[in-house]
Amino acid sequence: MRRKLAAGNWKMHGLRADLAELATLDNADVDVLVCLPATLIAAARDLPVSIGGQDCHSATHGAHTGDISAPMLADAGATYVLTGHSERRSDHGETDADVAAKTQAAHAAGLTAIICIGETLAIRAAGTTLDIIDGQLAASIPDSATDDNTIIAYEPVWAIGTGKVPSTDQIAEVHAHIRARLAERFADGADFGILYGGSVKAGNAAEIFAVPHVTGALVGGASLKAADFGPIVAALAAS
Ligand code: 13P
Repeated sequence: MRRKLAAGNWKMHGLRADLAELATLDNADVDVLVCLPATLIAAARDLPVSIGGQDCHSATHGAHTGDISAPMLADAGATYVLTGHSERRSDHGETDADVAAKTQAAHAAGLTAIICIGETLAIRAAGTTLDIIDGQLAASIPDSATDDNTIIAYEPVWAIGTGKVPSTDQIAEVHAHIRARLAERFADGADFGILYGGSVKAGNAAEIFAVPHVTGALVGGASLKAADFGPIVAALAAS
C-alpha cells in the first residue's frame, strides 16, 4: 500500500520567489508533492518535497513546439506528473486515449502518474456519474499501470475552484467504485492510491480524509501558501 499523499497543483501560478512556500512542508508520516509549472521544477529539485509536472507529451521528443516530454520532466527533477487534469481535458481537448498515452510515456520515463478523472455538474445532475467514471477509468489507464507508478485522483469538475465540495457520502460512493474497478482490472488494484481533489481546504480536509479509500488529496488553490497547505498535510498525517 502506498503512503498517503498530500499533493498540490500550482496550475499556472508561481515564480521562483514563491518556492520558499515549500521549504517547511515535509512530513515524516505522509508523502508531500507539489506539481509545479515546468519553469520551476529544476529550481525546486532540492527542496524537501517531491516535485511533479502538470502534463507531459506522449512522445519522448520531436517537433512539438511548446510541449514537454516525460523524460524532460524527470531530467529536471520531477518524480510525478499529472495526466488528464480536467483543465487539460477542457482547455486542450485531451481525450481519454491521449491521457492513456501520456500516462504510458510517464511510466516509461520512471515517473509516477496521477491520472485525473471526474464528472461535470451536468453528468452529476443526470445521475450518470459512475458510468462516466467507468469510461474514464477504462480508457485513461494504460495496461502499464501498477500501484507503484499510478495514482488516481477523483476531481469532480464542479468542485474545482468553486468552494463546492461533494458530501462525504458522494465521495465515498465514487471512491469505493474506483477501488472496485481497479481491483477487477489489476492484480494490485487494492493498493493504488486514490486521491480526492476539488476545493480541499484546511477546514474540510479532516472529514474528507476520513472517507474510506481516500488516500490523500490533490489541492489547487490551497496549495499555493504554506499557511494553507501545511494544515492540510497535518490533517492527512493525523488521519
Ligand atoms: P482547487 O483545490 O483550487 O479546487 O483545485 C483542485 C484541482 O484542480 C487540483 O488539481
